[in-house]
Amino acid sequence: MPQHKFIVCNYHHSLTSGTVSWQAPSNIALVKYWGKYGEQMPMNPSISFTLENCHTQTTLSFERKQNEGFDFEVYLNGKRETGFEPKIRTFFERIVVYVPFLEDFRFTIETVNSFPHSSGIASSASGMGALALCLMDMERQMLQQMGFELDETGRLYFAEKASFLARLGSGSACRSIKGPLIVWGEHPEIEGSSNLFGTKYPSDIHEIFQNYQDTILLVDKGEKQVSSTLGHDLMLDHPFAASRFRQAKDNLSKLIPVFKNGDLLEFIKIVESEALSLHAMMMTSMPYFILMKPNTLEIINRIWEFRETTGSHACFTLDAGANVHLLYPESEKENVLQFIKNELVPFCKNGEFIEDRVGLGGQKLTD
Ligand code: DP6
Repeated sequence: MPQHKFIVCNYHHSLTSGTVSWQAPSNIALVKYWGKYGEQMPMNPSISFTLENCHTQTTLSFERKQNEGFDFEVYLNGKRETGFEPKIRTFFERIVVYVPFLEDFRFTIETVNSFPHSSGIASSASGMGALALCLMDMERQMLQQMGFELDETGRLYFAEKASFLARLGSGSACRSIKGPLIVWGEHPEIEGSSNLFGTKYPSDIHEIFQNYQDTILLVDKGEKQVSSTLGHDLMLDHPFAASRFRQAKDNLSKLIPVFKNGDLLEFIKIVESEALSLHAMMMTSMPYFILMKPNTLEIINRIWEFRETTGSHACFTLDAGANVHLLYPESEKENVLQFIKNELVPFCKNGEFIEDRVGLGGQKLTD
């Protein structure tokens, strides 16, 4: 059912051509989204840190056209990328009811990722986030020309609708519009949480989490072994689905006091258990997959040993692949980076890792 709040009845067709550019970051889930229904609705609530350095910059050029249907080309790092076009077409088909001007323009979508395409880091969250922000910028220009006072509802509406659109491109992308901590999916204890878009975590956040670090250890840089769409589908008739969805909701409840009081021991337990539960779902689905590599396990064991012997609060999380995200407070940065260089780099492909940290979300680039 269309969400009427996000449908604009009529645009002034005063825009003829132009360019908008936005940057959107990637995000790393602490409580994982795995399982969806209907049109990109999550089976359980999730929460993520928005990142800062891993981002996509997208420039959307548009020119009014007369013929019907969608007309667009996608470029990655200056090179035409026809492989991305089916995904963008599906995205356009899902969102055209909310941004009907999509059919009135010929678009060139130029996108650049700050991280290498072959790094195994999913670019769909940052990519869909940046494109949704560009489209919202176009809509804002049209609405302004119609005399709408965007300040009254503007900021919230802009970010909410950008997140709503991004979700229809890739679920986790709806958590890439704002930062630092974004919830997606209804949760009874989190005010304003919604299945339709990501919202800023509304309660107290201890200062230790404000500048949390995420170093991404690149274990396997190939294409994803299992597409997220297939992975989410595997949850539809998964024998443990109901308890997994309940577990995610409970873990988010447990994180509420942790975010407030900065209890890192509890944080570590929840975050690592979430990562392993996500992988357990994939190991116990039909068909089944093991997405960790031997080096993923080596790294996890070294992290546990490091914690045990040094009292560090570094912990890991994983997305649906072999790379390891090492999360730790900024105060431990020097020691953890030394540990990475001494002990973890040998388990990374070509010794590569990416230093990132919690960030604040999408940004407009020059016109
Ligand atoms: C494991 O957002 O990539 O990273 O909605 O099908 O595009 P689609 O899936 P996607 O799934 C990401 C799942 C995850 C966990 C998470 O980010 O919450």
